[in-house]
Amino acid sequence: MTLAPVATDWKHPDKIRPAAMPGAIPFARVLDKVSYKSRPLSSVPAGSGLKAVPGYGGMPVLGRTAEIIFDGLGMSERVWERMGAVSWVQAFGIKFVMALGPDATQAVFTNKDKAFSQTGWDYFIGPFFNRGLMLLDFEEHLYHRRIMQEAFTRTRLAGYLERADQLVQGDLKRWPANGTIYAYPTLKRLSLDIATDIFMGSTVGEDDARLQTAFIDTVRAGTALLRRDFPIGRWHRGLEGRKVLEQYFRTRLPEKRANDGDDLFATLCHVRSEAGEAFSDDDIVSHMIFLMMAAHDTSTITTSAVLAALAAHPEWQDKAREQSMAIDGDLTLDSLDSLTVLDIVIKESLRLVAPVPSLPRKAIKDTELLGHFLPAGTQVSVSPWFSHYMPEFWTNPYAFDPDRFTEPRREDKNHRYAWVPFGGGAHKCIGMYFGTQEVKTLLHHLLRTYRWTTPPGYVVPWDLVSLPMPADGLPLTLHAL
Ligand code: HEM
Repeated sequence: MTLAPVATDWKHPDKIRPAAMPGAIPFARVLDKVSYKSRPLSSVPAGSGLKAVPGYGGMPVLGRTAEIIFDGLGMSERVWERMGAVSWVQAFGIKFVMALGPDATQAVFTNKDKAFSQTGWDYFIGPFFNRGLMLLDFEEHLYHRRIMQEAFTRTRLAGYLERADQLVQGDLKRWPANGTIYAYPTLKRLSLDIATDIFMGSTVGEDDARLQTAFIDTVRAGTALLRRDFPIGRWHRGLEGRKVLEQYFRTRLPEKRANDGDDLFATLCHVRSEAGEAFSDDDIVSHMIFLMMAAHDTSTITTSAVLAALAAHPEWQDKAREQSMAIDGDLTLDSLDSLTVLDIVIKESLRLVAPVPSLPRKAIKDTELLGHFLPAGTQVSVSPWFSHYMPEFWTNPYAFDPDRFTEPRREDKNHRYAWVPFGGGAHKCIGMYFGTQEVKTLLHHLLRTYRWTTPPGYVVPWDLVSLPMPADGLPLTLHAL
């Protein structure tokens, strides 16, 4: 099956639309009408006072997979109008409950009943990111998170910033003074270099291309339609990618165990709980694979979205540049804080293109969601993407309008869970400050070095098959200042 890239049109936004397959959305909408026939997800225990979850599966076998891939936001909007915040669909080979909007998001994230488990991720990325922090639950998760938190203290963040600042400046010297670059692969390589340097205390060197391919393959495998290890296909490439990553980290483990160091890899090797427990080799390898993926993929998506938005809105590019030009000398955490225009530009870009568009969970016991009965085993999906476009919370939600994050508007405060690009609750992104800091550092130096443009009317062809990525690599024309 051809998976079409999807475009976000910043200027004419009723359109999150397929670029490669004109007609896919009308087709999806017809399909939606033909297949629409609500059925309950399950029976409801007598006397519980709960409602059944309504929904419909769509086509046999494929369910609504095509609709989600080609028109995910439109599909969510149709579901919301017909069924409300909680309904079920069938896609990617499973039935799952869509928890739409900030109220449902809040209920799942706060997880009062401890019913929603991260094993919801297993179906998509389990074989590739097995035992990464995000895939652990409850007590075990807390134990691992407390240790990992040590790597993200303010003192460490200041050290990371210093290093990231040097790396970015060094890298920019290799960029052309004028001309067109493919921003997405360029940024991906740079952010992988930054993550490797900061988390491992080393450079990737000749392994660069091999690791990048392995990370891409493991991330994209999650939405493979063929979910078996046949010698071809995305699932297989994901498993091969995991092997490459395991081998990469495992061969470096003995040296990290043997020597002191203040990078994250060394910290994970030496850290002990109060009871004297330590991470096993397997734990460390799994944490490193997950962290490195999380650290470079999401920040690359965010920086790409900001670059595209600032090319389409040169007035915002100029405002952000003015603040960057006012900073003398090396970057510090305080000088980064003074870049307030970039703050709101990044927030707005994260709203429009949430790097993790949906967050899966699994009910591990019978529970309820906004008055609906969810039997144990139900797969659930929270959708930051949908909440970020709800007209109930955001004025003209498709428009790029960073001022919505400033006083007195502060639209993000309309609901605590309306803006959730970093998730929420116990699993809220541990790298939120580090990631934002890295994105800001990069943008700061780009603003001081270049003005950048895209052709008039350019629309980013966001490929939403797994995490969003510009299908065309995001060509940007650089003009040296
Ligand atoms: C703009 C950048 C980033 C975005 C938008 C982002 C987004 C997210 C989201 C939505 C989650 C929650 C997943 C869930 O609830 O199931 C998450 C978790 C996580 N992120 Fe990030 N992330 C970013 C950067 C980073 C960076 C730079 C790192 C590492 C340094 C990182 C490491 C993690 C880890 C380890 C978790 C799991 C936390 C836990 O389960 O306790 N992220 N991220």
